[in-house]
Amino acid sequence: MIESIESLLNDQIQYEASASMQYLAMASWADQKGFNGIASFFYSQSEEERVHMTKLVKFVNERGGNVSIPSLDKPKGSFNSLNELFETFLESEIFVTQKINEIIFECLERKDYNVHNFMQWYVNEQLEEEALARTLLDKLNIIGDDKSGHYLFDRDITSFEEEGQEGE
Ligand code: FEO
Repeated sequence: MIESIESLLNDQIQYEASASMQYLAMASWADQKGFNGIASFFYSQSEEERVHMTKLVKFVNERGGNVSIPSLDKPKGSFNSLNELFETFLESEIFVTQKINEIIFECLERKDYNVHNFMQWYVNEQLEEEALARTLLDKLNIIGDDKSGHYLFDRDITSFEEEGQEGE
């Protein structure tokens, strides 16, 4: 495996793991505040990111590369509002997309079409995740400070999730 690409894939393992722990912290915060729908949404996002991480670990190993399982920084655990919670979600997804694009760029530079092909799954996944995060944040911006709006948002978040994934 090309060294620079192996190194970027290892970095990506860390980003996916960090996203998983960040979303777990967000789920736990929402759970504590009584937003059960939002909690369930982020518990499931956390699981998804763990799958993204493990998929990379397995791929690097299958290709005969070296995986280095990273230690992680403590995730952000408290939020001032639902908007801040979902802004954190969107920022995290945008960051991950940028990092995936950097891997794609390196694959093309180094003509590693195998890894490039593998990474297409992540490119598509990011398109969906970012679109979902933007949709949810847009809805929260419309709701503003309205408490009954937050109640309905929490109740309906699972259906927003399905809406966002219709193109899948
Ligand atoms: Fe796997 Fe949503 O980053």
